[in-house]
Amino acid sequence: MKQLTVELPGREYDILIGTGLLEQCGARIRAVTRAERLAVVTDSNVGPLYLKMVMESLLRAGFTAFSVTFPAGEASKNIRTLNNLYEGFADGGLTRGDGVVALGGGVTGDMAGFAAATMFRGVDFIQIPTTLLAQVDSSVGGKTAIDLPQGKNLVGAFYQPKLVLADTGCFATLPNRVLCDGMAEVIKYGMIVDAPFFDFLERLDGIQAAAAHWEEIVYTCCDIKRAVVAEDERDTGRRGILNFGHTLGHAYEKAYHYETYTHGEAVAAGMVKMLELERRKGRPVAALQARLERVLKAFQLPIEIPCTMEDYRAAVGLDKKAQGRCIGVIEVVQPGQAEIVPMEKEALFALLEEKDA
Ligand SMILES: NC(=O)c1ccc[n+]([C@@H]2O[C@H](COP(=O)([O-])OP(=O)(O)OC[C@H]3O[C@@H](n4cnc5c(N)ncnc54)[C@H](O)[C@@H]3O)[C@@H](O)[C@H]2O)c1
Ligand SMILES: [Zn+2]
Repeated sequence: MKQLTVELPGREYDILIGTGLLEQCGARIRAVTRAERLAVVTDSNVGPLYLKMVMESLLRAGFTAFSVTFPAGEASKNIRTLNNLYEGFADGGLTRGDGVVALGGGVTGDMAGFAAATMFRGVDFIQIPTTLLAQVDSSVGGKTAIDLPQGKNLVGAFYQPKLVLADTGCFATLPNRVLCDGMAEVIKYGMIVDAPFFDFLERLDGIQAAAAHWEEIVYTCCDIKRAVVAEDERDTGRRGILNFGHTLGHAYEKAYHYETYTHGEAVAAGMVKMLELERRKGRPVAALQARLERVLKAFQLPIEIPCTMEDYRAAVGLDKKAQGRCIGVIEVVQPGQAEIVPMEKEALFALLEEKDA
């Protein structure tokens, strides 16, 4: 097992990474909360797989625990499900001094986290992320949210957990596409912060080989995100580098109505396109782009997603008053080195329109 401590002023907490953590969750949670009663939030896929094990462990540790389950999927990450969580908490007898446990992927963590932040103006929150994406990304950093019909993650709060238990044994039941989806963010971390980690991922050459190294992979990613977030908890500066590949990735997701491509697939193609734009600006990134494409392919991720200029414009935003003329573009010229560079949106569109020589 590996352990990381996230140090935020007055709110320090641990991330534990390894196998067997689900069985031990009761005792581990005992050590970080005075809660007597815990509401376990999970979805309709994860519940049947892992809820029993978690509930038994909580009971063994002396907690009174009950669960609230919602239908799996991003479509549930809305105000109606949130309301069901609040009512479920109240029906289950949760009080101000109690706690909420999120058992599931990023959808569960984001929504349960927001519910925990707001129920009784904040109760203890524990994350048990069960997808690769949730372990390396959404469970670290304290962002919680739900979606609106107008857009994703529009309502939310910064709310840090008391503990994160990342059980890599959970990946055994993850569909291959969901695992590869998470790998896009893993590869992103190598690109923006950690060149030796990028080399390591290249050598793995695919998901099968990665499976022998989950603990190390999750640890490295959490450590990177922890460090970036500690520098910029409220996401006003340096934390922006985590958005590498996301501006254009957002256009791809949106262009296909969030149905055809997963978030990770869109980010994968978005990272490649960013390097292509660098190349069009005359930067020496051809070799890096070839490396990135190769590693993405090895993890069954796309290196290109077709979309129109209208799609790009719609996603990047044309409303000058609301968002300004410039956006922060994340430039990577060497693996492990990312810079946020302000760029006029029109200049970005012009580059996107340019054909390769
Ligand atoms: N808060 C943040 O900083 C942050 C960062 C990145 C993403 N997110 C959010 O995370 C969400 C995406 O997370 P996700 O990809 O984990 O989605 P998800 O929670 O929908 O999980 C993906 C699928 O895998 C299933 N699943 C989860 N764990 C499983 C397991 N161990 N075995 C079998 N099936 C399992 C789920 O039921 C679901 O069908 C998005 O809503 C996104 O906005 C948040
Ligand atoms: Zn992402």
